[in-house]
Amino acid sequence: MLESPFEMTDIENDEKIISVNLLNLAHMLSESVDLMEDGVYHHGQRVAYIAFRIFEELYPGQDAFNLVLASFLHDIGIDSDEKKKETRKFIVDQHILIKHTNDGERLLGKVDLLKGIRPVVKHHHTSYEDIQKIDDEIVPIEAQIINLADRVDVLIDSRHYILPQTKDIINKVKNYSGSMFHPEIVDCFIKLGEKEAFWLDIDNQYVHYRIWQQKFGRKSIAYENDIRQFANLCGDIVDRKSPFTTTHSKRVAFIAKKLGKALNMTEKDIFLLEIAGELHDIGKLSIPSSILHKEGNLTDEESRIIRQHTYYTYYLIDRLNTMNNVRNWAAFHHEKLDGSGYPFRLKANQLDQGSRILAVADIAAALLEDRPYRSGLSKDQTMYILWDQVKNNKIDGDVVRTLESSFEHIIPSN
Ligand SMILES: [Fe+2]
Ligand SMILES: [Fe+2]
Ligand SMILES: [Fe+2]
Repeated sequence: MLESPFEMTDIENDEKIISVNLLNLAHMLSESVDLMEDGVYHHGQRVAYIAFRIFEELYPGQDAFNLVLASFLHDIGIDSDEKKKETRKFIVDQHILIKHTNDGERLLGKVDLLKGIRPVVKHHHTSYEDIQKIDDEIVPIEAQIINLADRVDVLIDSRHYILPQTKDIINKVKNYSGSMFHPEIVDCFIKLGEKEAFWLDIDNQYVHYRIWQQKFGRKSIAYENDIRQFANLCGDIVDRKSPFTTTHSKRVAFIAKKLGKALNMTEKDIFLLEIAGELHDIGKLSIPSSILHKEGNLTDEESRIIRQHTYYTYYLIDRLNTMNNVRNWAAFHHEKLDGSGYPFRLKANQLDQGSRILAVADIAAALLEDRPYRSGLSKDQTMYILWDQVKNNKIDGDVVRTLESSFEHIIPSN
């Protein structure tokens, strides 16, 4: 994975203020929903690039910030691999289209800074013809640009050289001018499509990063409350994909925050623990639904695949540039003090207090939750298993003792 393209303003040097570039957050989420079993597909980024080039042609000098933000986040409403695959066909089942655009719009409502792009995400598959029939709401032009950019990206077969494909793609888009697509946007796309470089750029992340850096490098800062809302959104997206654990991220965040408080960590660290809790499983979006939804025991191969999730958690959060504690605390939640955890095989001296808290919070939350093959364990059963892990030098005894002594206060009631 490449480094993140968006820098922070000088404010990052202020110890008291916690802030992140909003586009970094959006970029992180975009890359996480594009995670596949075998790596990242970068659909959100590619759509952002195509859409940006069209926007620039049509509206030179105008601000493309919302367009790029919405392109990154346009498909956050997709909640399973099957639906993801379905939307990668040129003509998509109407039910799936409506469900993921409506869900996307609703999810964005959780973050104040993203409310402005809700109509864009809601209408990113609404055809030009249908938009003419809407008279009670304004559909931003960005939605129609993303509609075309998105369909162009799905027409590209990334297993083959791109240049021999361009003629067919242009012809296909032309056929839908005035029906699926806005005619002016189609004309603009055809003009851009004459250049080989335009097509080669679509698969060139270096070019995208150069553009984002130049145009939006130091723009739009998210502060504490925005970060909390955004992390909450990420937690919801992860939990939606796992039908048996619909509030797991939230519960881990809650327990981690309470443990941090009970262990006298600073206000700032308590906040960062909460964010790490919401984000700890974000790499799970790379695990196929067939494994996450499986009710029986996992095969050896499946359990090994699961182990990649915290690796991706690490590199996704790493893109935020300013949240290294959150990155470590979130990504090390399956590491063990004796070095037997995964995927980095860290040892006790590499696991600080935040990482140890997250590990305990994750296990406690998981044991207390109902699963398809068992109901949630009791307090006694949970503590028994945790103490057993302490004895075997897996998790931190001080953290477990703190949990036990304030159990009712630390564990959320439902
Ligand atoms: Fe979509
Ligand atoms: Fe899409
Ligand atoms: Fe996990």
